[in-house]
Amino acid sequence: MANSSFARAVLLRMSKSRWLAERVMTRSFARRAVKKFMPGEELTDALAAATALAPDRLGSILTKLGENLANPADADAVRAHYLDVLDQIARRGLDAHISVKPTQLGLDFSSDRCAEHMEALARRAEATGSIFWIDMEDSSYVDRTLELYRRLKAVQPKVGLALQAYLRRTPQDLKSLLPLNPIVRLVKGAYAEPAHVAFPAKRDTDFAYYELSSQLLEAASQGRALPIFGTHDLTLLDRIVAKAQSLGVGDGGYEIHMLYGIRMDAQRRLAAAGRKVKCLISYGNAWFPWYMRRLAERPANVWFVMKSMLPG
Ligand code: FDA
Repeated sequence: MANSSFARAVLLRMSKSRWLAERVMTRSFARRAVKKFMPGEELTDALAAATALAPDRLGSILTKLGENLANPADADAVRAHYLDVLDQIARRGLDAHISVKPTQLGLDFSSDRCAEHMEALARRAEATGSIFWIDMEDSSYVDRTLELYRRLKAVQPKVGLALQAYLRRTPQDLKSLLPLNPIVRLVKGAYAEPAHVAFPAKRDTDFAYYELSSQLLEAASQGRALPIFGTHDLTLLDRIVAKAQSLGVGDGGYEIHMLYGIRMDAQRRLAAAGRKVKCLISYGNAWFPWYMRRLAERPANVWFVMKSMLPG
């Protein structure tokens, strides 16, 4: 356990290294390894994967990798890209949403500009029968991201927000959001955070996740929230599904979201059993920090990378 926390900390630290990113991203072994978690770098790869998942009753969420953009023109281009994605989803009749990081829409340089981009995307999502999701980044962004969500919710109700169970502040944040009838994707949390901000021990995060899930389901049972459980933790999901049933929240009253390439068998099984399941499909060439976070979630994945280094 201590070893795995150490490996997690090292991998998360590596995720921030531009030096490493430049050296790793061009290596063919790394490109082979990353394919475990993404079907390809192009939007067409992600759309093809979403189309292939549909017969198994799996919906999709598309996300173009990228974060901490420093140039306003790049954030404008991200907005234009996602507007096109929403149109393509509608044209293909896919049950698919989009999920975007605030710093990919310019939060590092202008909250107002970021809010404008979000509003444009949320409006197009509503018009095309989709949902616009806001990812949650590290804890330094939480206040600003909640503020963006509140602003957006006031003009566009069908918008979702990720909340992280590992943050000590999240119960309070959830309480403050519940009067807004929120759409919340609860995740455990993927960033390196100090112990006074986030639980260092996984069991505390798992405990908090279940407590927050129960609160969301209670709100859902009164029509005051749409909870989404973004986790591959099947034991936790069993408890959450049982809780939903005990509160009379039917299969349409919540969703389960997982990542492409992780527990695909379970995603199919849950969908076949009548749960609403969506698979988050990432694409794009800015995959280094995101990929390192995937390794940090399960340091055993590093062996998979090492195997990819072998020829053939
Ligand atoms: P946990 O880590 O306990 O894993 C449970 C089991 O799932 C593991 O035992 C393993 O079998 C499998 N598993 C989990 N991760 C794996 C991996 N990388 N490779 C192989 N197997 C793995 N985080 C964040 O901070 N902000 C965000 O906006 C989001 N958004 C988001 C959306 C969606 C749809 C998902 C599913 C996740 C996120 N995350 C996120 C990531 C999240 O915070 C968390 O890091 C991962 O989901 C891993 O935690 P689990 O809940 O799966 O549990």
